Amino acid sequence: MTPSVCALIAGNWKMHGTRAEASALAGAVRDGAEGLGCDLLLCPAFPHLGLVAEILGAGAVALGGQDCHPAAKGAHTGDVSAPMLSDIGARFVLLGHSERRANHAEGNGLVHAKAEAALGAGLIPVVCVGESEAERLGGLAGAIVETQLAASLPDGFAAAGGVVAYEPVWAIGTGRTPTTAQVTEVHAKIRADLVARFADGGTMRVLYGGSVKGSNAAELLAVANVDGALIGGASLKAGEFLAIAEAAPKSA
Ligand code: PGA
Repeated sequence: MTPSVCALIAGNWKMHGTRAEASALAGAVRDGAEGLGCDLLLCPAFPHLGLVAEILGAGAVALGGQDCHPAAKGAHTGDVSAPMLSDIGARFVLLGHSERRANHAEGNGLVHAKAEAALGAGLIPVVCVGESEAERLGGLAGAIVETQLAASLPDGFAAAGGVVAYEPVWAIGTGRTPTTAQVTEVHAKIRADLVARFADGGTMRVLYGGSVKGSNAAELLAVANVDGALIGGASLKAGEFLAIAEAAPKSA
């Protein structure tokens, strides 16, 4: 953890859930969120945002989208804009997730434009970065993350509370996690890059993501410069998600 930073535990539900399942999951997280000492965020699929917004209400658990378009409105069939997310009650938006980068050919320039749009709509962007397995084996993890950060984050990012999520692609949904030494090294590198660029770089939240679950959360969340987690599979079970939140170090 970074001193004086409160952990953010974020659930990325991806393309999962019926209305009934989303409703039950959101209700259970809301009911279990009292007194955890960290911030919680749920990012359901677009069709469930309104429903989950109503369930979460003005309580402690924040709502986020999983993506947004760089334009505020227009002829973009199938897309959702940042102002729409804000209007429905979202405070955050995930951007540049590796599944978007891979499945929708999203490059850093597009992620940058989306982050600008998010900031313009008053949303807090959570920008994901991370190397592939081949890049890791080639010794390129640090360089890849550096390039993604430099090209994806707009200038106003830190001042608006922007969040970075380090998610090694090979750890997402695989059950494999980097060693704590590897997490330590990449998060220190990210912190150094953020401090070099932004006045608020020292206190920005940098999350770890990739196969986080209740049983490994304490170890991963204790690493220096890890200020929370972005969770996929394990966020689909309220008990598991809340167990991760309970494992987060409490801010001093
Ligand atoms: P996972 O996904 O927790 O299922 O590995 C993480 C993510 O994609 O954010």
